[in-house]
Amino acid sequence: MVQAASFCLLLLSGTFDISSSLTYYHVSASMTWQKAQTYCRSNHIDLATVDSMATVNVLNKSYQSMIPANGSMWIGLKRSWSWSTGESLNYTLWTTGQPNASNSEAACGLFDSKGWSNYYCSNKFGFYCFDEDSSNASKTYILITVSKTWKDAQTYCKQYHTDLAIINNSEDSAAFPVNAAYVWIGLISSYWSDGGFSSFRYWAQDNSESSLDDTCTAMDNHGKWISKQCNLKMSFICYGGES
Ligand SMILES: *[C@@H]1O[C@H](CO)[C@@H](O)[C@H](O)[C@H]1NC(C)=O
Ligand SMILES: *[C@@H]1O[C@H](CO)[C@@H](O)[C@H](O)[C@H]1NC(C)=O
Ligand SMILES: *[C@@H]1O[C@H](CO)[C@@H](O)[C@H](O)[C@H]1NC(C)=O
Ligand SMILES: *[C@@H]1O[C@H](CO)[C@@H](O)[C@H](O)[C@H]1NC(C)=O
Ligand SMILES: *[C@@H]1O[C@H](CO)[C@@H](O)[C@H](O)[C@H]1NC(C)=O
Ligand SMILES: *[C@@H]1O[C@H](CO)[C@@H](O)[C@H](O)[C@H]1NC(C)=O
Repeated sequence: MVQAASFCLLLLSGTFDISSSLTYYHVSASMTWQKAQTYCRSNHIDLATVDSMATVNVLNKSYQSMIPANGSMWIGLKRSWSWSTGESLNYTLWTTGQPNASNSEAACGLFDSKGWSNYYCSNKFGFYCFDEDSSNASKTYILITVSKTWKDAQTYCKQYHTDLAIINNSEDSAAFPVNAAYVWIGLISSYWSDGGFSSFRYWAQDNSESSLDDTCTAMDNHGKWISKQCNLKMSFICYGGES
């Protein structure tokens, strides 16, 4: 059984007001996160992205009553550190105690002379882009000293270079300039199934962003988010275009 709900959401983008109509679909069949993703992609657009308090309220209003006291429904957020390019991490330089569980919304990666740490994506820092030499796969890193949010830094690097800096092996690490100040690199945790970027988070207490890796996100009966093993089966919320 599929229940559809239509809403008008006012999305703010830069200085423009874009009115966009999204339809959410609750699918009551129980599936793993992966299977739910496949289902949403074949029947709608994708698992639901929840990018604002307005969407939280809309989903909570529509589906809260269907969620038992200790139950939940999958949404489209998967927690796993990856590179801005979408590639997985095969080499890490986290400083001790990082990624840091107490920074519950700190989903983006910083570099300083000690190594990597996670921080709030909406803060502004300088950043490193890279250019890839396709003939020998070597990387050149370019420091941009203008402070930007992680997302704006990524946009800039994709426009003028290859992407935000990836440090993927010891050769990259040796080529990467040591910098005493904090700068963004291409590390991002928790990607949305539809590939869109939203740093909005609505974790229930004790469900911090980086305490666990490779877990999937579900909405509880307060509209808040909790981490669950991706192979658990539960109902889920897809989104589609206008119905
Ligand atoms: C939910 O709560 C009910 C009643 O307390 C219990 O029987 C059931 O096992 C719980 N389910 C989960 C998934 O914890
Ligand atoms: C890490 O390894 C996986 C599996 O081999 C690969 O798909 C991925 O591209 C690698 N990441 C990078 C940054 O090369
Ligand atoms: C996380 O990092 C902050 C500073 O960035 C620090 O104040 C806090 O104690 C750290 N918490 C843990 C659990 O490492
Ligand atoms: C890769 O090739 C470029 C020129 O094509 C050269 O400048 C650079 O040193 C090479 N890097 C490596 C690691 O061989
Ligand atoms: C990452 O490192 C591995 C092993 O050194 C290499 O095979 C792969 O091509 C690298 N990927 C990128 C994107 O640099
Ligand atoms: C979700 O709805 C329930 C019941 O109406 C309410 O108690 C709860 O505060 C709502 N949560 C949010 C985030 O609005």
